[in-house]
Amino acid sequence: MIKPLAIGMVGYGFMARAHTNAYKRVNDFFPDLAYRPVLQAVCGRDAEKVKAFGDQWGYASHETDWRSLVCRPDIDAVDICVPNNLHKEIALAAAAAGKMILCEKPLSITTAEGKEMCEAVESAGVANTVWYNYRRIPAITLAKQLIDSGRLGRIYHFRANFLQDWTISSDVPQGGTATWRLDSTAAGSGVTGDLLSHCIDTALWLNGKIKDVSAMTETFVKERVHADTGQVQPVGIDDACAFLCHFENGSLGMFESTRYARGHKALFTFEINGENASIRWDLHDLNRLEYFEHGKDSIVRGWRTIHVTEGEMPYMNHWWVPGLSIGYEHSFVHQVADFLGSLEQGEPCQPDFRSALQTQAVCEAVLQSGKTREWVSIK
Ligand SMILES: NC(=O)c1ccc[n+]([C@@H]2O[C@H](COP(=O)([O-])OP(=O)(O)OC[C@H]3O[C@@H](n4cnc5c(N)ncnc54)[C@H](O)[C@@H]3O)[C@@H](O)[C@H]2O)c1
Repeated sequence: MIKPLAIGMVGYGFMARAHTNAYKRVNDFFPDLAYRPVLQAVCGRDAEKVKAFGDQWGYASHETDWRSLVCRPDIDAVDICVPNNLHKEIALAAAAAGKMILCEKPLSITTAEGKEMCEAVESAGVANTVWYNYRRIPAITLAKQLIDSGRLGRIYHFRANFLQDWTISSDVPQGGTATWRLDSTAAGSGVTGDLLSHCIDTALWLNGKIKDVSAMTETFVKERVHADTGQVQPVGIDDACAFLCHFENGSLGMFESTRYARGHKALFTFEINGENASIRWDLHDLNRLEYFEHGKDSIVRGWRTIHVTEGEMPYMNHWWVPGLSIGYEHSFVHQVADFLGSLEQGEPCQPDFRSALQTQAVCEAVLQSGKTREWVSIK
């Protein structure tokens, strides 16, 4: 008998849509799961808008205060899809109410807050995960398998970029519904927490722990109108960030993120160079993994492009036939499938809060180094 898992969704924006789509699709494509998500309730402050979202996507009910949602006895798992400054408070309340928690990234605003969140879920004994969904893009999961199998040999370099261009105009406001990412109170930081956190999670997963960082951060537009107050206020977020790091395995890391790279909308790329082989990946072509193997046969040596659609490749036997691509939204379906699978196995679904705390610690060290212009060790 398949067991229902009643979802209480907090938020009805971009991520609420991505996650709800995943809850609706997962059992159709992963029919062996022991649990089935049920869209029990969605929460947002605007009653009319949240009801419209709930009706459109098929939620059984709605709430206008997340405090009521997390206490409802008919909710099993709380999904946190709201701005970053709300993650901690909602997670602590949900853990106290004994609910499982699926929390959007970044885990928290500060590492200290993240620690509190870890302690809360661990002492409540509730299942928890953080939506670093890029781990579940099949090409990235395949990269992990190739690295873990030792094919690359010793790793020398890890470099990653996440480039956008949507805040170049000084007319873009800070704060409010669509632009909370520019408001340091709501977002905590700029590109570091929003974009580099994805690159860092992927790097920690693929290449292990980071020892120390040296960063530079910049805020190109120093003042913007605040959407809530209408006043011109100083901008507290980092518009751009680049950092160097040492990994514990001896390799060197280089990371860059900006919202001022004209022409780029969401260019997440990474490359790993090992002694025997290299790997390269690009979000714009997410089904492909580029791979170079330094074999003995020099006349056919070269980069190859692996189209990650074969049934024996990660997750792909759940979808179409070889050669047919999947998209961004499937990474969320995979994360839900893995979360439900981990419930059945009684194991943590990675990254759990404790694992996401490592990403938080790197982000915090990067921001500190950007201010002090000194190398900062990761505690
Ligand atoms: N995993 C990813 O790739 C990814 C992508 C985008 C965003 N995110 C993360 O997801 C979270 C949400 O981002 P988004 O893009 O969905 O934002 P969004 O602006 O599209 O949606 C935010 C939602 O939160 C609601 N909200 C704000 N304050 C609230 C409150 N007090 N109570 C209830 N609801 C409230 C808003 O009404 C809105 O529905 C952020 O933490 C962000 O970093 C992750």
